[in-house]
Amino acid sequence: MSICTIDHLLLQNEKILLRVDINSPVVEGKILDSPRMAEAAEMIRVLLEMKARVIVIAHQGRKGDSDFLPLKQHADLLSKKIGKTIQYIDDLFGERVEYVIAGLKPGEAIMLRNVREYDDEKDVDSKNNRYHSFSTLFDAYVNDAFSVCHRKQGSIVIPPQHLESAMGNNFEKELKAVERFKEARGKGVYLIGGSKIEDYIPLFNVLKSKNNLVLASGVLANVFLVAKEIDLGYEKKWIKEKGYHKLIPQLKGVLRKYGKQIILPVDFAFGDKIRKERKLKQAPFKEKIWDVGHDTVALFKKHIDLADIIFMKGPLGYSELPLFGYGTVEILTHISKKKAFSLLGGGHLTTTIQHYHIPNHFSYISTSGGALIAAISGEKLPGLEALEKSTWKKF
Ligand code: 3PG
Repeated sequence: MSICTIDHLLLQNEKILLRVDINSPVVEGKILDSPRMAEAAEMIRVLLEMKARVIVIAHQGRKGDSDFLPLKQHADLLSKKIGKTIQYIDDLFGERVEYVIAGLKPGEAIMLRNVREYDDEKDVDSKNNRYHSFSTLFDAYVNDAFSVCHRKQGSIVIPPQHLESAMGNNFEKELKAVERFKEARGKGVYLIGGSKIEDYIPLFNVLKSKNNLVLASGVLANVFLVAKEIDLGYEKKWIKEKGYHKLIPQLKGVLRKYGKQIILPVDFAFGDKIRKERKLKQAPFKEKIWDVGHDTVALFKKHIDLADIIFMKGPLGYSELPLFGYGTVEILTHISKKKAFSLLGGGHLTTTIQHYHIPNHFSYISTSGGALIAAISGEKLPGLEALEKSTWKKF
């Protein structure tokens, strides 16, 4: 691993730009506490103990989505966790931020505004990108957001071009878990739920081995079913509205090649205050699907029982609500009792494990989702590459 760790950096008195991932599930405008938050708090605590001056940057949600929020709640929660105030500055670039950074004392931390408020985060190749001059305000950069390394974004790839850079402690753990997973051998089951399905495409490469199965749920399963010309009713319209229908030709190709290795739900749960289940045969449905049903859970369990390696990303339904947490909780509990090598990831899934107090008998719970998929699928991660390129300065 040719990337510096924080042990390679001078920390005392140094201004450290720390990128963390505290992107969290949101219910009614409030962020849920999560393992990501615990990892970020621990990293900040370690840096503060070494008397660094810590400037924390992060994102929450994506512009236009309901979970796109400022980071004030995050700063408050992190302050509580480390028992020390992390001042929140509602700005990222400019004189006000520069002034506060200049006055920061060793052992103090601040958190800046959601990096995704600014076009500089996505316009990485623009000459006027402000991350270039922003980076000069610091002595070193620590990336502890492995989970964002599949994104070529300003806060991830530009600071390592200018600063001595290292991976943070959680980043290092994540990278080691990926390496262990890649070395594991045997029959693999990949449970893929959640909603960011554009990130999942590289994973279908694992199906080149006939040993591997994908058990799909959530948006991915619905788009697969629509690709199989099954009229899901409400969900079919929703898929179009959200633009997921653009992935249908690609998913049709995946089905043609690997159809037998892709296991889809056979029943679903619906409802508002009361949970109702219906079989897939009863489609089209007028309502939104919120979870998989009991038959699907039984089917997935059968496949899990035969696996030597289990990968799970994303919940099977809207697990934030107890009424629809059934599928995810059942499957997680089942996996937790297995001897197989189990690697679990994704912000929502790991939050579910914490919220439902599922015993942690898994091999590794990752705080990454899309990045984890990219890494186990053998994709290049821009954030990782940026750190690798930056290390030559150090050795
Ligand atoms: C995640 O939740 O997987 C990371 O925070 C990355 O978020 P993104 O998918 O919105 O880039």
